[in-house]
Amino acid sequence: MKIFLDTADVEEIRQGVAMGVVDGVTTNPSLAAKAGRNFKDVVLEIVEICPGPVSAETVALGADEIVREGRILAKWAPNIIVKVPLMAEGLKAVRQLTSEGIKTNVTLVFSVNQALLAAKAGATFVSPFLGRLDDIGQDGMQMVRETVEVFRNYGLVTEVLAASIRHPLHVTQAALAGADIATMPFKVLGMLVKHPLTDSGLESFLKDWEKVPDAKTVFL
Ligand code: E4P
Repeated sequence: MKIFLDTADVEEIRQGVAMGVVDGVTTNPSLAAKAGRNFKDVVLEIVEICPGPVSAETVALGADEIVREGRILAKWAPNIIVKVPLMAEGLKAVRQLTSEGIKTNVTLVFSVNQALLAAKAGATFVSPFLGRLDDIGQDGMQMVRETVEVFRNYGLVTEVLAASIRHPLHVTQAALAGADIATMPFKVLGMLVKHPLTDSGLESFLKDWEKVPDAKTVFL
């Protein structure tokens, strides 16, 4: 499963990419607002740091306007993915952008049927928001599992990008469900690295190493 960072904070992206495990980045208007900088400046910096897919979202509500915004975003860098909200006008726009060779990520997906429509419109990625479904007492992961199954049933090539991930268990479950990608906050990526037994194991290894006769010279 590929790992994307869900952030518009370039420092977080720099650190994640340096770790060698980040395959792409997703942003959204709320994350852009949190970054507090000009959106174009931020995105241009992100695409320099991360060579993988970087999602930047359109904000128009009509298809023609979404397509216009999408064309502008796509011109900024070859690895930009135009993120389009799931709605009838959005699907229309995705169909058009796809026909122009522009890659898209259909966002704000909360049902398998919505995911199916996004795939049929030609989306490159579809983003089921599992955490937000959990928030209202529904099983977000079930939607991810079923979306993966439906796409497999019909050989749909759209990648399932599990989004709105809140904790490490979501990541494990998304991988078990067969999601192609999980996009997560930087904090969750950090949590994936840590385990108390790793920390205590490392501590005792380093302590024992001091008793090895050539410990101080072997790596010179
Ligand atoms: C995905 O692309 C979205 O940016 C994101 O995962 C939304 O997550 P949230 O529900 O934590 O805001």
